[in-house]
Amino acid sequence: MSRKERAPVAALENIDLSIGQGEIFGIIGSSGAGKSTLVRLINLLERPTRGDVFVEGQRVTDFKGEQLRALRRRIGMVFQHFNLLSARTAAANVAYPLKLAGNLNRAEIEARVVTLLGRVGLSDHAHKYPSQLSGGQKQRVGIARALASEPKILLCDEATSALDPQTTGSVLELLQQINRELGVTIVLITHEMDIIRRTCDRVSVLDHGHVVETGTVSDVFLHPRHPATLRLVREAEPDGGRLDGISVAELGGRVLRLTLTGETARTPILSRVARENIVDYQILAGRIGHIRNVPYAQFTVSLSGRDVAGAVAGLRAGGVSVEVHGEEADVVPARNVPHLVEEVRHVV
Ligand SMILES: Nc1ncnc2c1ncn2[C@@H]1O[C@H](COP(=O)(O)OP(=O)(O)O)[C@@H](O)[C@H]1O
Ligand SMILES: [Mg+2]
Repeated sequence: MSRKERAPVAALENIDLSIGQGEIFGIIGSSGAGKSTLVRLINLLERPTRGDVFVEGQRVTDFKGEQLRALRRRIGMVFQHFNLLSARTAAANVAYPLKLAGNLNRAEIEARVVTLLGRVGLSDHAHKYPSQLSGGQKQRVGIARALASEPKILLCDEATSALDPQTTGSVLELLQQINRELGVTIVLITHEMDIIRRTCDRVSVLDHGHVVETGTVSDVFLHPRHPATLRLVREAEPDGGRLDGISVAELGGRVLRLTLTGETARTPILSRVARENIVDYQILAGRIGHIRNVPYAQFTVSLSGRDVAGAVAGLRAGGVSVEVHGEEADVVPARNVPHLVEEVRHVV
């Protein structure tokens, strides 16, 4: 190691984020954005250079010793590569943090391990070693271990990134079930918009150490405002959800983004409004799916014909969100609130 000091890396700056109790809160960003650093602030595996961290209303920034250990027992953590002890069985991996904590006797630990392995669907695999388990099963052990100290908060850092799509789905369902049944607040870190869309209530988008957007998943996913968000949303779709070779300037009509959610997405409102106002739609981009369990459909269309204004009014009256191309605010509004964590620097 050179003794010469290198320039520190500002991993996070001006972070102002509140996560509600009982939420499944997503943090998304591309690699190096600062996601892991941000989540590690919550259990103080990282400490801010400037600013404060609050957990359950308590300022925890300077916690040390027993206070810090108690805080970490209230916060479970799940890792991308599981981090299991390979020489111990699934049951022993789950028991490990309980033995370290030292507040339960052997019978109590055994009983809790049985309950935890049951909760994650691994009752029949208690005596297997990690090498005998599939990736999804290993992550279930990781989740059971994280729940051993009965935490109120579960931090999941890319917990499904090493898993195939089908296994990812079942692990996400397990996390949702844990949130629902145990009321555990879940902070889910990922670089994939699809995981956020299926799992989270709210989301923050992290870009180069800054939170560039925070909102409900439907708002952020359907009405992305920051270029980094737009990029992450488009990555989740084949061809970015649009046809190539159509330039908006070449089209004669009004270019609109139409968003239908919930019951509206199930009605043939577009064709009815077109018929009533004698207009035509040309679809330029589109996507259809679910956000958690709510159906949505979103189309970018060029609209032309007899009564375009009447059609826009008819769509809005029917519950369709209509954004006129060029009119949407593409600047995220600034907020005049103090930043909780002003800075985190890594010395490299
Ligand atoms: N321990 C460390 N020492 C030096 N730099 C680090 C350290 N951990 C992370 N970084 C840097 O901080 C930035 C954010 O990293 P990280 O939080 O791991 O991002 P993400 O999890 O979004 O990929 C990156 O530039 C990364 O290289
Ligand atoms: Mg990371």
